[in-house]
Amino acid sequence: MAMGLQVSLRGLSGLVLLLCGLPWAEGGKVLVIPTEGSHWLSMRTIVRELHTRGHETVVLAPDVSVYIKEDDFFTLKSYAVPYTKEEYGHNLLSLLQMFFENEYSVTMFLSNMELMKNISAFYVRTCTSLLYNTGLIQHLNSSSYEVVLTDPVYPCGALLAKYLNIPAVFLLRFIPSDVEFEAAQCPSPPSYVPRLFTRNSDRMSFLERVKNILYNLPFKIVFYFSYTPYESLASELLQREVSFMEIFSHASIWLLRFDFVFEYPRPIMPNMFFVGGMNCVVRKPLSQVCIRYFAKVCSTNVGFLMSSF
Ligand SMILES: *[C@@H]1O[C@H](CO)[C@@H](O)[C@H](O)[C@H]1NC(C)=O
Ligand SMILES: *[C@@H]1O[C@H](CO)[C@@H](O)[C@H](O)[C@H]1NC(C)=O
Repeated sequence: MAMGLQVSLRGLSGLVLLLCGLPWAEGGKVLVIPTEGSHWLSMRTIVRELHTRGHETVVLAPDVSVYIKEDDFFTLKSYAVPYTKEEYGHNLLSLLQMFFENEYSVTMFLSNMELMKNISAFYVRTCTSLLYNTGLIQHLNSSSYEVVLTDPVYPCGALLAKYLNIPAVFLLRFIPSDVEFEAAQCPSPPSYVPRLFTRNSDRMSFLERVKNILYNLPFKIVFYFSYTPYESLASELLQREVSFMEIFSHASIWLLRFDFVFEYPRPIMPNMFFVGGMNCVVRKPLSQVCIRYFAKVCSTNVGFLMSSF
């Protein structure tokens, strides 16, 4: 009896040793739902790394995408949308111009409201085309993805992950109105946590605190018209009342594309990680066009550019 136990223990330790020798990182299936533009450039770095580590990555994008193109480290799955590549490119460019050629101000937001509304409506149409593509949704549902990696500034990926009931990893710089912190139930009191573009520090005078609150108002408006349509889309699909916060709190992990070094210390949740700068791993000298551009735009915009690209 004791002998038998000894033998089986030896067998067991042999098995454990054998298992230790096997490559642990078994390849998983990752569904990637990126956001166009510079956002994709950061996500691309992660997708390439996932591929290097043996994971199977499928990138889902509209068939008119400008930046998201086929590559050898992922499978591109595209879906049809009801507009042309020209319309898409025009919208994308208008938004980039708005951010890069103006210094942030409340007036900039107010005077570009129509443009932002147009672009939001455009993204909602893109998302509707994806979520109502029954063939594709059924295919995705039966493909047993283990995780969705998405940039929730375009919240369609978050919504799709919830719809298909797949855990999600969010990679993001920010969402208007600090919604990410609210969704993750992370404290973010305006008296202590400086809002974007305010240039406030974490020690604010009374007036700076007022500024901190006021600067957030245009973002609240943008958030309202850009993101609430996804609530109705989600409610239709899931056939119950779904709030935006519910869609967003589906995130299992938040990868934040910034760092305390660039901003200020703030409370974060244990499932939030700073990955700012990971897109700078592969360095190249700036092109002449970039150098001229940097020389032209003001320092605020440069700060935005650096964090965005
Ligand atoms: C917004 O969309 C409408 C209708 O498509 C168009 O007429 C208008 O020019 C657009 N506005 C901007 C600022 O792009
Ligand atoms: C996905 O498949 C499961 C199991 O077959 C089914 O219960 C579920 O409704 C499907 N979800 C969608 C969004 O089609």
